[in-house]
Amino acid sequence: MKKTVTLTFSDGSPPIELPVEEGTYGKPVIDIRPLGAHGYFTHDPGFTATSSCNSAITYIDGDEGLLYYRGYPIEELAYQSDYMEVCYLLLHGELPTATQKQAFVESISHHTLLHDQMENVFRGFRRSAHPMAVMIGVTGAMSAFYHAGLDNFNPQHRESVAHRLIAKIPTVAAWAYKFNEGQPFVYPQNRLSYAENFMHMMFATPCEDYEPNPALARALDRIFILHADHEQNASTSTVRLAGSSGANPYACIASGMASLWGPLHGGANEAVLRMLEEMDDVSKIGEFIRRAKDKSDPFRLMGFGHRIYKNVDPRAAIIRRTCYEVLDALDLRDDPQFRIALELERIALEDEYFIERKLYPNVDFYSGIIFRAMGIPTSMFTALFALARTAGWVAQWHEMLSDPAHRIGRPRQLYTGAARRSFVPLEQRGA
Ligand code: ACO
Repeated sequence: MKKTVTLTFSDGSPPIELPVEEGTYGKPVIDIRPLGAHGYFTHDPGFTATSSCNSAITYIDGDEGLLYYRGYPIEELAYQSDYMEVCYLLLHGELPTATQKQAFVESISHHTLLHDQMENVFRGFRRSAHPMAVMIGVTGAMSAFYHAGLDNFNPQHRESVAHRLIAKIPTVAAWAYKFNEGQPFVYPQNRLSYAENFMHMMFATPCEDYEPNPALARALDRIFILHADHEQNASTSTVRLAGSSGANPYACIASGMASLWGPLHGGANEAVLRMLEEMDDVSKIGEFIRRAKDKSDPFRLMGFGHRIYKNVDPRAAIIRRTCYEVLDALDLRDDPQFRIALELERIALEDEYFIERKLYPNVDFYSGIIFRAMGIPTSMFTALFALARTAGWVAQWHEMLSDPAHRIGRPRQLYTGAARRSFVPLEQRGA
């Protein structure tokens, strides 16, 4: 028998029966849609207890510290797979066969070029523009190049959008950096892997040969896997909400990037590095921990805490290990920021404040140290997150539009403003 809950009211109004739905894993959800017909809405600012959709892409168990893409544990994908396979998995639901993988990689590597006219879009920005501002602008501008004839409800068109976005975003990100630096744009190289190609576009110049370091390319590929999707976070929900109206998908991905940019979301990796630089020495850790605990100080320990994880973020553990590998490969084991980060983590994890609130390092805590060691400037950290998350955003957009039950997203509100009043002409309103 299907489980239901009954909502009763203290004023004697008739009770309302609501269905309870169970997924593969996770907490059961109460389907509150019948409430509207009874004259009620639910109220949940920040969506702390609200499921917004059915999804078969990613599962997180924040209490146990588990993350699965399409049922595969993140640890297995991070160490045994590669980012191209993970993109295919997110989009199609299954790991590719050898033939499918070859065709997918070929399609991605043959869509990496940007329309020549797009160079002018970059050149419209001031040189000092933050790379995320450039990425949002240029990705949004892609909607002007791919709009006519695009049918969001045609699965082939959606697949072509997904391939284009996964292929072109690394070029957009690398060129945002090149534009900042005042260096010429470097074109993609089809012979290179996805991560190697990104490094090539970031670091090559026309003046000398550049060969990406294979150990660093492997680490970057792993970081891309870890950031590829994370179910209904702020940026993914933004993409879904924007896409729910049938809007152009490139514009929807640009809206996801805008949401990601915030320091409480993808902007945290940049904020962590700035915080570690400010700490400068392990002796200052105590002062920063004190500030993080002080409720009258808005400062928070960046890279700590997560809305969902109340246990170790499984991605943080993999990134910490990758950090050791990268610093070893570059002979930087004594990197001062890494030392501070390790010590800060140790102290915070023993502190009652962090223990009580279940605040652990999140994915952003160590990623910046790796990026910096690779020579990637701090301002590019969130751009790398956006690059990797594009696969998840587009997979979620595709899943939403494939669902015949999908409707435009339209939350309700609890109105707390003025009651009805009459207009007062300007001359009667006082000075
Ligand atoms: N430093 C100090 N205290 C913290 C921190 C932190 N980093 N994070 C949470 N807290 C405290 C809060 O002050 C609050 O304490 P209280 O109960 O005494 O009032 C309690 O822990 C719960 O915090 P909330 O803000 O209610 O948790 P929420 O789920 O809304 O926020 C968030 C989660 C935004 C990630 C938060 O932990 C944070 O600001 N962390 C720092 C920024 C960061 O690292 N963001 C990256 C997240 S991962 C990602 O987006 C990829």
